[in-house]
Amino acid sequence: MNEKILQVENLKKHFTVEKKQVLQAVNDVSFYVNKGETFGLVGESGCGKSTIGRTIMGLYEKTAGNVMYDGRNVHELTDKEKFGFYRNMQMIFQDPYASLNPRSTVKEVISEPMEVHGLYKSKRKQLDRVYELLEEVGLNRDHANRYPHEFSGGQRQRIGIARALALDPEFIIADEPISALDVSVQAQVVNLLKDLQMEKDLTFLFIAHDLSMVKQISDRIGVMYLGNLVELTASEALYEKPLHPYTKALLSAIPIPDPDIEESRERIILEGELPSPINPPSGCVFRTRCPMAMDICSIEKPQWQEVEQAHYVACHLYDHTIGNRDPVNT
Ligand SMILES: Nc1ncnc2c1ncn2[C@@H]1O[C@H](COP(=O)(O)OP(=O)(O)OP(=O)(O)O)[C@@H](O)[C@H]1O
Ligand SMILES: [Mg+2]
Repeated sequence: MNEKILQVENLKKHFTVEKKQVLQAVNDVSFYVNKGETFGLVGESGCGKSTIGRTIMGLYEKTAGNVMYDGRNVHELTDKEKFGFYRNMQMIFQDPYASLNPRSTVKEVISEPMEVHGLYKSKRKQLDRVYELLEEVGLNRDHANRYPHEFSGGQRQRIGIARALALDPEFIIADEPISALDVSVQAQVVNLLKDLQMEKDLTFLFIAHDLSMVKQISDRIGVMYLGNLVELTASEALYEKPLHPYTKALLSAIPIPDPDIEESRERIILEGELPSPINPPSGCVFRTRCPMAMDICSIEKPQWQEVEQAHYVACHLYDHTIGNRDPVNT
């Protein structure tokens, strides 16, 4: 039986920006993450992925909805409760250059969370743990006294991972942990994360804008567009039978290594600009760029519905097709 460790229910996060305008960064998003799995969250820049991560971590107050972790509502914790609670949940950040304090040595960067939580009474034990963590992420103890700028991007991200592991968390939000890295290094870091997951029984929320990388690491994937989840299902199902026109467009942009297939396949180019989350389109937020848009799409927001087992989509093409699985020439 899968145990749902994280449940995000109708989560909304709106920001008030200049001229008192409301920016709808996250709108009514619902998903859950099973213990031990990797849940991938994808979508283009600005669609609200980091905002979801930060709201789950309690770094942002929610506007509406709930975030339940291990049966507890994270936005109802007192500050004292939060302190203990968030030992279990850590974040790896997108930019390994910006997220490490340049004036701290690697040893200081990794041991800081241990000190904040008073994990070790003895400095010696704490240092031993730093050495152990460095080795776990493929670095070594000689690196402990050096500064972040002395390392390559991939190595810095390993330092960021070691820091995230310092408190022995059970859940890690990895917010585009590989996007700033060279392609050759990306796979190494992904493999490291996979190995650590096996060894430590970790659960991952893996955020990325590149669907091809997310596929390799995720058990299930949620696709976002302009603050909304548009489709969610198991990785294979998403690749083999995408339902939402936006997912189809994203998948069609991934090159296929076989030249015959690559040549014969249709690439879906999305027309038009990404609308602003300050003034999103009425009805379905994707309709202004959707090649399949119908009249109803500007009038009614599509429901988030399970159209096949464990395959969720928000799209009017599927309104009448529950039980009749093949909508309009897919
Ligand atoms: N603190 C904030 N105040 C105001 N607006 C914000 C804030 N944080 C994010 N936003 C806005 O919310 C929207 C979603 O941003 P977010 O950073 O979550 O997107 P993202 O999917 O993580 O993008 P990227 O792939 O570029 O990291 C954007 O329009 C962004 O400008
Ligand atoms: Mg982001």
